[in-house]
Amino acid sequence: MNPFLRVAARQLASDLRGLPTRVARGEAFAGRAARCISIADLRALAQRTLPRSVFDYVDGAANDERTLAWNRRDLAALELRPRVLVDVSQIDLSTVAVGIPIGVPVIGAPTGLSGLVHPDGEVGLARAFHAAGSIYVLSASSSCSIEEVARLASGPTWLQLYMWRDRGFVKELLERARAAGHLAVVLTVDVPRSSRRERDIRNGFGVPPRITLRNVRDAVARPRWTTRFLRTPRIELANAANRLGADGAASMVRFVDSQFDPAVTWQAVSWLREQWTGRLLIKGILTAEDASRAVGLGIDGIIVSNHGGRQLDEARSSISALPEIAAAAAGQAEIYLDGGVRKGGDILKAIALGARACLVGRAALYGLAAGGGAGASRAIEILTAELQTAMALAGCASVGDLDESWIVRPSTGTAL
Ligand SMILES: Cc1cc2nc3c(=O)[nH]c(=O)nc-3n(C[C@H](O)[C@H](O)[C@H](O)COP(=O)(O)O)c2cc1C
Repeated sequence: MNPFLRVAARQLASDLRGLPTRVARGEAFAGRAARCISIADLRALAQRTLPRSVFDYVDGAANDERTLAWNRRDLAALELRPRVLVDVSQIDLSTVAVGIPIGVPVIGAPTGLSGLVHPDGEVGLARAFHAAGSIYVLSASSSCSIEEVARLASGPTWLQLYMWRDRGFVKELLERARAAGHLAVVLTVDVPRSSRRERDIRNGFGVPPRITLRNVRDAVARPRWTTRFLRTPRIELANAANRLGADGAASMVRFVDSQFDPAVTWQAVSWLREQWTGRLLIKGILTAEDASRAVGLGIDGIIVSNHGGRQLDEARSSISALPEIAAAAAGQAEIYLDGGVRKGGDILKAIALGARACLVGRAALYGLAAGGGAGASRAIEILTAELQTAMALAGCASVGDLDESWIVRPSTGTAL
């Protein structure tokens, strides 16, 4: 036999011998995520694993999904100005986020109802970010409660909330966050009302989900997800359990609908600043004017974000907003960015343009879908390894040394 074929046959035979053990241990699932080498691979695996309506809930955005695309387009359009003959034998990715030292500049963005993607849910995500030496931001609309996450994931966690109409509920959440040892609160300000997500509307995705023939067919075609979901149906607002009626999902819809308050203004930020004496960040700012107002109210951090394109479609990309916001806040508040981060190089670019670190939403959720908590870890590992390599090849040994001189806009060929 040809020697190459002999080696291949031997390898195949050994893989097949090990298969039953791997399947029995459940390694096949996590193993598939482990074999992914990019966030795009994890996304493809998530698409094969999740029913269409759940994948679209994660992957989709508002209206024509232009902002979703612009986030990626504008990050990709920036080119790097590498330096050579620099000692890059040690790359330092560590930084400090509102006083908390972190090992990697990649923070877990708040994503509601993550338990729908995989029963590991927010606990799995939190553990993954903590294991990487970073912070997880827990959405108040999570499917695992503040207390459950605090009990099962021991690293630094921030609580994200909206300025709900029921201020008693906001106060209760702050109290619970304090008791759970949360180190900061993130107020999301880009949801005065819900947006239109066409994929969700077409799929009948909502709470309660609309049971259609296609949804049933989809669920049957994804037995792995469906079995797990039937065993552990995590489709609840765990933090609001005490406020919901006995009719479960329907009362959850009523609760959410009744709580978003389109009349909320900057006064609410002052109110929150008084209620929460710890670190306070504001998420969803896209202009220098709003950044200045936030700074004036004593905000510790600004997350430049368009909600991953899920709110105002046609809003500018977050990377395009970053330089003016970094200039407006100039040393008075820390700046973070999310939206479209899928490569380590994206993080390098955001930090060079003034961000302290990036938050990632979908990248971690694709990982969670592909392999539970281990899959989310794989996503962080991929981003971190890519960032390490990009830093070394760009000739920068520490994220603290990055500045805009590393960035060039191809249209002008000049540094920003
Ligand atoms: C499925 C999903 C649910 C989300 N839920 C929330 C939420 O509850 N609160 C919030 O402030 N942002 C939420 N976001 C927005 C993320 O925090 C973040 O801004 C966005 O995902 C960043 O873009 P990226 O997904 O391209 O990384 C959600 C995003 C996704 C994908």
